[in-house]
Amino acid sequence: MCGIVGYVGHREVVPLLVDGLQKLEYRGYDSAGVVVVRDGELETVRAEGKLERLKESLTGHSLAGSHGLGHTRWATHGPPLERNAHPIVDSKNRIALIHNGIIENFLAIKHRLQEAGWSFTSDTDTEVIANLISSLLDEGDLRSAVRQTCRQLEGMYAFAAVSQSTREIVVARRGPPLLLGLGEGEHFLASDPAALLAYTRQVIFLENGDVARLTADGYEITNLDGSALERTVQRLNWDPVQIEKGGYKHFMLKEIHEQPQALQDTLAARVDFELARVGFEHFSIPVEELAAVRRIHLLACGTSWHAALVGKFMLEELARIPVEVDYGSEYRYRDPIVDESVLAIGVSQSGETADTLAAMEIARERGARLVAICNVVGSQATRFSDGTIYTHAGPEIGVASTKAFTTQLEALYLLGLFLRQARGGDLEHDLLEALAHVPQAVAEALEQEKHIAQIGRRYHRVSDFLYLGRGINYPIALEGALKLKEISYIHAEGYPAGEMKHGPIALIDDDLPVVAIATGDRVAEKVRSNMQQVKARDGKVIAVTDRDPADLEGVADEVIPVPRVPHLLQPIVNVIPMQLLAYYVGVRRGCDVDQPRNLAKSVTVE
Ligand code: G6P
Repeated sequence: MCGIVGYVGHREVVPLLVDGLQKLEYRGYDSAGVVVVRDGELETVRAEGKLERLKESLTGHSLAGSHGLGHTRWATHGPPLERNAHPIVDSKNRIALIHNGIIENFLAIKHRLQEAGWSFTSDTDTEVIANLISSLLDEGDLRSAVRQTCRQLEGMYAFAAVSQSTREIVVARRGPPLLLGLGEGEHFLASDPAALLAYTRQVIFLENGDVARLTADGYEITNLDGSALERTVQRLNWDPVQIEKGGYKHFMLKEIHEQPQALQDTLAARVDFELARVGFEHFSIPVEELAAVRRIHLLACGTSWHAALVGKFMLEELARIPVEVDYGSEYRYRDPIVDESVLAIGVSQSGETADTLAAMEIARERGARLVAICNVVGSQATRFSDGTIYTHAGPEIGVASTKAFTTQLEALYLLGLFLRQARGGDLEHDLLEALAHVPQAVAEALEQEKHIAQIGRRYHRVSDFLYLGRGINYPIALEGALKLKEISYIHAEGYPAGEMKHGPIALIDDDLPVVAIATGDRVAEKVRSNMQQVKARDGKVIAVTDRDPADLEGVADEVIPVPRVPHLLQPIVNVIPMQLLAYYVGVRRGCDVDQPRNLAKSVTVE
């Protein structure tokens, strides 16, 4: 949720930066700051909390100039304190930097820079970028230092740097969005078009791997090797509704694309990578009580219930506590066995789903401790729970849940780590590093969008779909089928792949596409034999694989590659093609994908 604004030109820069940041306010943030470059000095003002606090701080400074950067921060590394707010200045005071993203290898680079004499005053991964760029400035200009830096960074970033001695802004993008705004004798930069629309409608959306240099008079874009790139200048003729949809045709597509950011925000400030610890802000259950939990009940409805099914695998493996998963509507009428040793967890995007709330209340009445995993601040589920883990997905408008689902999975993984820690277990670095890499892996999975749109076009006329998955990916097959049903009105079923032979195999003919999720070492081979059984009966196979697609030649009609991540996190990546396929089939069939018939975003009745 970090917001980025930059300007170089002839206007007074501070009001412009503050105005731009105000347009990004809806994303939420915990601190903000600006830097102005003037007379060879980098002047920064930063403040914790709301933009109002920054404005108050600015009244005490005579910050004038026409070249600078502004940032709103959503903490990832380090608490939301002024020292961690951006812009961050390197330890030799040569450059100031604003950044959105997560640098996965920041610890290794930090140690290397510390040995070479660079000092660090913040807890952020951003300071690593600032010091690294500064350390490379003696070998060349700001642009080449940025390119060299990017070649060393692993993870996702959109950042902008200014140096004290030049009148330019250099930016780099890999993952989070970044666009340039073009004007006469002035150039702008922002993470979101909303911040620029008042000043210019001529924009360039940067692509992954782009490095751009902005001056008052022009701009240049190169790749990381320094070769010049041409990027299309677009004119934003957006009406207010389009602005709200961020230029996407539907909220659902916008929300699918927001997932790398939403995952990053949900991770934010919960993990201390240096100390290998996990913590939550709204959690009042004492550690001794968590350590004493003997059983977990996960309660949810709809897509959130699928998240709970995946959560069972995560919690059992990470915390070694047995988990039961129930639909809210079933639990409330089944006389469940609950006592003080049960931790009941309600998983709900809205926090207002009547069946989930009723199930949570029953668990509490019978002595369980209650936790909510929820996306809406202050909702009913959060009000009566002992602890809430907020998914920071931002408002989800599309009725079919997408970014709320993937952030629920991430929250469940975090909770698994938290319980493991409470029970005296170690949080090995690879468990945390894997999590830091997930937003990037999801961004890579999204690169298959065009390919999936073509598959959607080929199969949008069929009347049934079958989805197969195994183990932790069986719930992803269920979720794929549910998404398709919800927004395309095609009948679809999700099935555990190993059960296909006990029934659904009777349905297979050349009219039935079968989506097979074949990732992971242990079960991919088994799912492959299921695919062969489908092919032997003339069925059509659409396979999702984390291996070389060539391995599935002759077995699958369509192959969608996804990046491989550790098995507990693989469902977060695997669901991306499910969402995109449902979306493109629904659009092709002319359905109202944002508001499917008969469905409601929040079901507050039984
Ligand atoms: C409705 C929505 C689903 C959602 C379910 C549970 O049926 O259409 O998308 O998964 O409610 O909602 P919750 O807010 O509790 O996650």
